[in-house]
Order: sequence, then structure tokens, then C-alpha cells
Amino acid sequence: METRSQWGTRAGFILAAVGSAVGLGNIWRFPAVAYENGGGAFLIPYLFALLTAGIPILIMEFTIGHKYKGSAPLSFRRMNKKAEGIGWWAVLVAFVISTYYSVIIAWAMSYSVFSFNLNWGEDTEAFLFGDYLQTSAAGEVGSFVPGVLIPLILVWVVVLGILFKGIKKGIEIANRIFIPALVVIFLIIVIRAITLPGAIDGLQAFFTPDFGSILNPDVWVAAYGQIFFSLSIAFAIMITYSSYLPKKSDITNNAFITGFGNSSFEILAGIGVFGVLGYMAGQLGVPVSEVVSDGVGLAFVVFPQIINEFPVLNELFGFLFFASLVLAGLTSLMSITETYVAGLMDKFKISRGKAVAFGGGLAALISLLFATQGGLNFLDVADYFINQFGVALIGLVEVILIAWVLRQLQDLKGHANEISDIKLGAWWTISLSIITPIVLGYMMYGLLVQNIFKQFETDSGNYGNYADSFILWSGWAVAIGALVIGIILATTKWKKSSVEEESLKKEAQ
Ligand code: ALA
Repeated sequence: METRSQWGTRAGFILAAVGSAVGLGNIWRFPAVAYENGGGAFLIPYLFALLTAGIPILIMEFTIGHKYKGSAPLSFRRMNKKAEGIGWWAVLVAFVISTYYSVIIAWAMSYSVFSFNLNWGEDTEAFLFGDYLQTSAAGEVGSFVPGVLIPLILVWVVVLGILFKGIKKGIEIANRIFIPALVVIFLIIVIRAITLPGAIDGLQAFFTPDFGSILNPDVWVAAYGQIFFSLSIAFAIMITYSSYLPKKSDITNNAFITGFGNSSFEILAGIGVFGVLGYMAGQLGVPVSEVVSDGVGLAFVVFPQIINEFPVLNELFGFLFFASLVLAGLTSLMSITETYVAGLMDKFKISRGKAVAFGGGLAALISLLFATQGGLNFLDVADYFINQFGVALIGLVEVILIAWVLRQLQDLKGHANEISDIKLGAWWTISLSIITPIVLGYMMYGLLVQNIFKQFETDSGNYGNYADSFILWSGWAVAIGALVIGIILATTKWKKSSVEEESLKKEAQ
């Protein structure tokens, strides 16, 4: 049997884990989510979610991967034969995410090229939805948009090429180059941002707490959602990455470095983004609240506008911003895709090359749907549903299963403590067995009620004001499909040669 790949160095693993965590979620999502949910007051639920769910689950997933040395399905199977399904469910959620995540990176690639001539012109909104995406009505597929299709193919060629090279020679080397480059570029942007006139007003808007919003359950939902997506937890990634760790590895320390590294980058992104928003508001003579926008709008509408207004070197700063999105996105997409490459290799005993070609090829093919004129609407709904009823729901099921059904927490704690400097105590156990299930359970109940009984403040009552049939097929079907296909995969037989997995199981114990 081929021996399992390993990271070359500890730094290599940490860079890869940070590379996975720091992604579009940090630069594209966090600043707008934080602002919409009470600015500075959002930081309280955010830090609470980080310390009671984010880092504890990260430690748990690192420990599972390290102890059971397998992709998520194999690791869960080794923990308990009946638990394989949750591993596949998480892998399929990652699969879905990779199909649209790649498309956002493709947009960023196009925009880094557009920066050279500020091609987006004065009306950046009309440019994004009209000239560039050629968006059609929700539910209509329309034709391919070449400006998205070409960079999308490039994104897949780069990511699958890196995965094809393997863990040490592919993912580790790529992260060693991309992450330092990202940090340097991002620091240049942030320093420029906070030295612009008016930046301080933006920072004030970001950090001034609206304490009223702390009592709003939606703010907590947003904080937990952000932490899960941003830390790459509950969608198979961190189990897969830590399965390549050597025996002697400090699990807990690595998890703290990854968790705090990711959040520091996230808050830095918030500072940079709000600095420039403050500048923009000053230029237009309006309050900061009027220039803030959500995910897509913020990065691809408001930012180009700001770049137009930059005092000097507009093209350069435009390029640096979109290049940072591309770099952050690529290192995350590698990790998202590696989950199903590893799953396929383990279950069907196929070579890495075949798993990359088959799994990655299928994801690339499906991602083409999002490169059509109807792509943006599909992306919006799929992203919402897969995050709430994929990532967050898996987080809840995972902690209940491990803490209460399989009663594995003590065992995992023992494993982590044996090899780590920082010893896990009551904080870890209480967070995972009590706090996280209660908060996430309450949150999931609210989300189900809201989505099933259509309680959004929109005309149709649905998320994003989309029609029922569109929500059903692009949202519910995608989220439920990931669960159902996950269960089916878990019931299929392991390849005969996988009997070796049993011996590995013993070795792991
Ligand atoms: N953790 C990755 C991100 O934040 C998926 O984008």
C-alpha cells in the first residue's frame, strides 16, 4: 500500500492551514457582515463564537485527522463504522462550495486585469451586472459569459495542477509562495488605506458598537456562520489537512496559531476596507453607511469606485486588491478541493491523478453553470443554503455526534494532550458539549423556521426575494442533495484493498 503523504515541515502545515482559512471569506465577506451586524458590537458575538466554537472545533478536527489519518469519511469511519456518512456529507458540501468559490476567484482575476485600464468606468454597478456578468433573470441560464469562463478554466488548471503534484510538492510549496505574497500585498493596501484622508471616519463606523444589536439573534447567526466558513471548519477541510501531519505534532498550538492568524487577518481586512470606505464617503460627502454594501457589491462595485477615486496609482492599487483576492481564494480552493480528492483516493483506492481528474474535473464542469448569464443568482442562493444547511448544520451534528452519541471527547482530548504543549481542560469540553450545541441548535431552529415559513421581509417571503421554485431547486435541492448523496456514498462498499484501513485503525488506537 502507498504510504500516506505528509507535510514536509510544521511551518508548511501551518501555512497551508492558514492559507485555507484566509480566503474570500476574510476579504470579501467579513467586513460587510460585521458592518451589517452592528459594527463593533459584532466583535463580541464573533469573539464568543471563535472561542467557544471556532477554535474548539478546529482542535477537534485537527485531532480527528491526526489520530485517524484519513480523509473525512475514512477518519469518521475509523472512529465509528456508522459515522462515515457525516464525513461524506461534509465532503459533498465542500464539493458544492468549490463549484462557485472558483467562480468568484475568476471574477477577481478578470478584475485584476481590468485594473490596468480601470475598465469598469464610472458606473461600476452597471459594469459588473451588465457589461461583465451580463446577468439574466433568476432561473434563466442563458449563454456562457466568456469573460468569466476563460479565467474560470485558468483557476481550475492552476488548482488541479497543484493538487496533482501532491501534498508536499504541490499544496505546501504553493502556500509557501502565495501566503507570504498575500501578507505583503495586504499590508501595503491596509497601510495605504488607513493613511487616506477620511479613513478615520470609516474606522469609527466599523468599531463603534451598536449594542442594541447584540440582543438580536440574527447577529449571532451571522457571527457563527462567519466563523465556520472563515476557519474552514465543518466541511471536511481541516480533518483532511491534519491527516497529513506526522506523528509528533503539536495539535493544540497549531490550532491556536491558525485560529488567531485567521481572525487577525480578518480584522485587518475590516480595518483596510473601512479605511477606504471612510475615504470614499468623504469624497462623496455622504455618511459611511451609504457606501457600505454586501459581499459581491462591496468587492466588485464599491471597490472599483474607490479605486477610481484614489489620489495616485489607482491602477496599481486596483491590481493589488484583486490580486490579493485571487491569492487568498486559490489557497482556500486548494484545500476545499483536496477534501474530495482525498475521499475518493481512500474509498476507491485510486491514484491521486485519477482522483484529481475525476473529482476536480466534475467540480470544474459543474462550476460552468455559474459562468453563465444566470450564474450570479444560482451562486447567491446556493451559497446561502449550503452555508446554513450545510456548513453550520454539519457543525451542529458533528459536535452532538462526537460529544453525546459516540462520546469521543475524552478520548480525543487525551490524544491531543499527549502530543501538545497546551493542555485542553474544561473550557474545551464545555464549549463542545454544552455551549456550541445550545447556541447552534437554537440558531438552526430559527433558520429552519425562517426559511420554511418564509419569514424574510421580502415580497415573496423568501431569502433574496426569489421565487419559490428557484429557492427549491437552487437552494433546498442543493443542500439536501449533499446530505443524500453523502449517505449513499457511505453505504457503498469499500474497495477490497481498503481492508488495510482496518489495520491502520488498530495502528491508530
Ligand atoms: N475559509 C475560507 C474562506 O474564508 C473558505 O474563504
